[in-house]
Amino acid sequence: MSEAPLIEIRDATIFRGDTRVFDRFNLTIPQHEPVAILGPNGSGKTTLLKVINREIYPVQGDGSSVRILGRDRWNVWDLRSHIGLVSHDLQMHYHARATGLDVVVSGFYSSIGVHGVLAGRITAVQRELAYTTLKNLDAEELAGRRLANMSTGQQRRCLLGRALVHDPDTLILDEPTAGLDLAAAFGYLDRIRRLSAVGKNIVLVSHSPGEIPPEIQRIVLLRAGRVIADGAKERVLTEYNLQQTYGVGVRIAVVDGYYFTYPAVAGG
Ligand SMILES: Nc1ncnc2c1ncn2[C@@H]1O[C@H](COP(=O)(O)OP(=O)(O)OP(=O)(O)O)[C@@H](O)[C@H]1O
Ligand SMILES: [Mg+2]
Repeated sequence: MSEAPLIEIRDATIFRGDTRVFDRFNLTIPQHEPVAILGPNGSGKTTLLKVINREIYPVQGDGSSVRILGRDRWNVWDLRSHIGLVSHDLQMHYHARATGLDVVVSGFYSSIGVHGVLAGRITAVQRELAYTTLKNLDAEELAGRRLANMSTGQQRRCLLGRALVHDPDTLILDEPTAGLDLAAAFGYLDRIRRLSAVGKNIVLVSHSPGEIPPEIQRIVLLRAGRVIADGAKERVLTEYNLQQTYGVGVRIAVVDGYYFTYPAVAGG
């Protein structure tokens, strides 16, 4: 029997509030296939990740389904051990007093922060695992530091730790380098590449083709909830397709497996 896909979305119609973000949307991502999903602001990227992460459900309808690893139903705890999600909007929801270790430990509870009722439930083993996770990210010095006193890059590393504490097979990253300086962004991308090299599958959501590591070969271009193109990088990342996706003239330069974009200027 062939392996169930990581994600299989069929004919899904998905609303955020009154906005219909996806209308009978289809997408399949096999296990062990790194993918980058690209699209402009508001095209539905984060919504798609929330669907995969079981935070948003599609409208029930004939033939529509969202299957993760072949299953329609998941309890969030089990799902966390397969898929780790890092999203920078998570960052904003933490209590400023939470420490780096709190953020990583919170991954065990699929919760934001560990204050209140959860604080008493954390075991010594979980703390130890969380500490080791931070250590593996060269971030053990952040364990006792409050989020409020960290840079964006340091906070982001703690969120990566939160996703990794379960040792999931797949990491889903929503705009991983948003707000990071060059050194922090390169460091973060390098870490992702190393995780990919040891067998973690990567699903990367981004605005910028330039941050897609060379090992990600499949690209999905999204515009207004529709797939504009989906397939091999060299076929999908064309100036024409990017213009269709973003609605502006784009030039592309490929260097060392990276795709850099810059504006197409009339007469330039
Ligand atoms: N909570 C919400 N209530 C109503 N509409 C929403 C909500 N969140 C998002 N939307 C709408 O859903 C659409 C898709 O938003 P989404 O956040 O998925 O886009 P995105 O591709 O992640 O954009 P960005 O690149 O800016 O992060 C947008 O039109 C947005 O205005
Ligand atoms: Mg988004």
